[in-house]
Amino acid sequence: MSASEPDWWRSAAIYQVYVRSFADGDGDGTGDLSGVRTRLPYLAELGVDALWFTPWYVSPLADGGYDVADYRAIDPAFGTLSEAEKLIAEARQLGIRTIVDIVPNHVSDQHVWFRAALAARPGGPERALFHFRRGRGTDGERPPNDWESEFGGPAWTRVPDGEWYLHLFAPEQPDLNWAHPAVRREHEEILRFWFERGVAGVRIDSAALLAKDAYLPDFAPGRDPHPYVDRDELHDIYRSWRAVADEYDGIFVGEVWLPDSERFARYLRPDELHTAFNLSFLACPWDAERLRRTIDETLAEHAPVGAPATWVLCNHDVTRTVTRYGREDTGFDFATKAFGTPTDLGLGTRRARAAALLSLALPGSVYVYQGEELGLPEAEIPRDRIQDPMHFRSGGTDPGRDGCRVPLPWTGAPPAAEPWLPPPADWDAYAADRQAADPDSMLTFYRRALRLRRTEPGFGDGPLTWLPHPSGVLAFARQDGLVCVVNLGADQVALPAHDSVLLTSGPLEGGGLPRDTAAWLRA
Ligand code: NOJ
Repeated sequence: MSASEPDWWRSAAIYQVYVRSFADGDGDGTGDLSGVRTRLPYLAELGVDALWFTPWYVSPLADGGYDVADYRAIDPAFGTLSEAEKLIAEARQLGIRTIVDIVPNHVSDQHVWFRAALAARPGGPERALFHFRRGRGTDGERPPNDWESEFGGPAWTRVPDGEWYLHLFAPEQPDLNWAHPAVRREHEEILRFWFERGVAGVRIDSAALLAKDAYLPDFAPGRDPHPYVDRDELHDIYRSWRAVADEYDGIFVGEVWLPDSERFARYLRPDELHTAFNLSFLACPWDAERLRRTIDETLAEHAPVGAPATWVLCNHDVTRTVTRYGREDTGFDFATKAFGTPTDLGLGTRRARAAALLSLALPGSVYVYQGEELGLPEAEIPRDRIQDPMHFRSGGTDPGRDGCRVPLPWTGAPPAAEPWLPPPADWDAYAADRQAADPDSMLTFYRRALRLRRTEPGFGDGPLTWLPHPSGVLAFARQDGLVCVVNLGADQVALPAHDSVLLTSGPLEGGGLPRDTAAWLRA
């Protein structure tokens, strides 16, 4: 996909950069923008079309930067605004576009608006930008309703004057009141601010949670509409965002976790968001029938609105792919994460390579999370080094999300400074410089696959046709005779008729496709 094509986003391979853990330019143990700039050639060689940066703004990092104190400034730990501008321009020169991450549902408790709200009297206009309420009970000692935080515990925190404020995530992340016109105005200005700086797109955090029932009723299971998930008011917000993006040819990718595919597709109508993450594919177990069903449902839900699908195997919130696929339960669910889950990394790695060929061959755009191309496993972080609020708010039972956020191993040499999260002792084996020199490494494999996806016809947006295949196997054709076959069954299978083999995720055996292996063919 050439960077000058207007529909680049319909087929793009997008690499997610978790800035804090990508590359440490100034040697203080934390990744930064100068680190990203020096690694741009690596990203160009990898062959990605765009970079999505998780929040790089000023933040106390109570939730890894998803607690934004200033949406128009870079956190000093990462660099400066002028460095971000340089980075955006340098990447663009290499044909790589930039996507920034906007967090509209909540701000940091250090944001000027929230500080002013705390300093204001109850009922003051500063508080109207958030959801402040009196509590229940004779002294207002109980939260205003029964909502729970996504991180566990009540979604309300009481302030010294007795009022409570709503936070669907951590207490350091007060929810904004999207019924307030100033909130809408401010975010449209933030979008313009970043589009003016040359970004090509915006990822929208928690995109389906912004609007709340004004009465903030108790959560009653099955209540329709839900008091804060997927409310109809959201579509008006995104239509006005779309008008802003259109002025700049910018695109959106929404973080929309919704089980109902018809409701999900509404966000992708032609005057709303361009794309949304396909989180059901990410959570799907390594099972041919279930994957096929997820793929079919995904394509069916996108077709009526004309939006391309996205394919995501992991991100900064979920268990890394090689680990997940090496476990008995190969699906992903926040509720079942636990310490010490037995894992066969050899098996997981084989499957992750096959899954990469599957996702890169499906119609639409695809996301690669930093370190996925190195085959990094989920790290077990010693309890006393864990930082993720999800761990603490679970009462210490959930290992949290730090295991997929460990700084990348660029070389086998010890880093100049202790990384902010400790890399496991054996991670020099995964070092990018070693893998670059190894023809069988995950990195070499990803480079080949991404290069073929770019240079060979048939990939990206467009139709998919299932081919007849035995149970436990997925086989489909794309345009121009491109065929992808994935064997998830117990036995080796014969390859369908073909003229040439473009790439396989592991060695063929006597011309057959072994289990947990995928192939790209040209027929
Ligand atoms: C989704 C982000 O991906 C996650 O990391 C964050 O904790 C929540 N939204 C809250 O912003």
